Amino acid sequence: MKYFSYDTVTSTNDAAKEICGKYRRAAVLARAQTKGRGRCGRSFYSPEGAGLYMSYILDVTPDEALKIPLTPLCAVAVCRALEAFGVRGVGIKWVNDVYLRGKKVCGILVESCGDKVICGIGVNLTTESFPEGLGNAGSVSLAIPPKKLAKRIVRNIDRALKRRDFKEEYVSRSVLTGKTVEFSENGVMKKALVTGFDGDLRLLVSSEGKTRALSSGEVHITEIIQN
Ligand code: BTN
Repeated sequence: MKYFSYDTVTSTNDAAKEICGKYRRAAVLARAQTKGRGRCGRSFYSPEGAGLYMSYILDVTPDEALKIPLTPLCAVAVCRALEAFGVRGVGIKWVNDVYLRGKKVCGILVESCGDKVICGIGVNLTTESFPEGLGNAGSVSLAIPPKKLAKRIVRNIDRALKRRDFKEEYVSRSVLTGKTVEFSENGVMKKALVTGFDGDLRLLVSSEGKTRALSSGEVHITEIIQN
């Protein structure tokens, strides 16, 4: 397993895409990203030396990744790693955000690269202020050495891939269960109560007496409305 560390890159996912054909497993780390990105075309604020910005190239095919499912597995791996460094109270907002005290402290972007997948993970460690519009962003407020955290996350991902022991924990760490959420579906805003998850970790929501399962590719939660 090889680690590549850079000062500044556009995005560690892009840097990983350049080498994913050459290495079976590898991780790319950077101190800063100028074009860090997230799901749904959003950007990921990545100021120098304030976070962990990493992309782990996994020897798993994109088809296998869908069946695992890999984004929830990575979210659990991050929570376990943060706890190992003493951070208490981390939860998961379906599908790919790690939350602490009501703020998003980590985002995960899984992308394919040929016959492999890249797990892009960004953790705000000591970032103190965020650009306008990122009102729900927060930081762990603990100066964990990024490479140590990266190694722990990689270990946790590898273990969870072997043991497949992450689904129950993913469900129990959910910060959405029991909350009313607002989401957009095909451009239409809707509200529903989150009641839990199905076996494929789709989000179960209920509104007007009907329960349905939401897939992460189709909807995006725009707001958590406290009950
Ligand atoms: C999201 O919030 O939707 C996901 C954010 C993922 C950010 C990480 S930082 C490392 C890697 N490189 C990127 O450009 N994105 C991911």
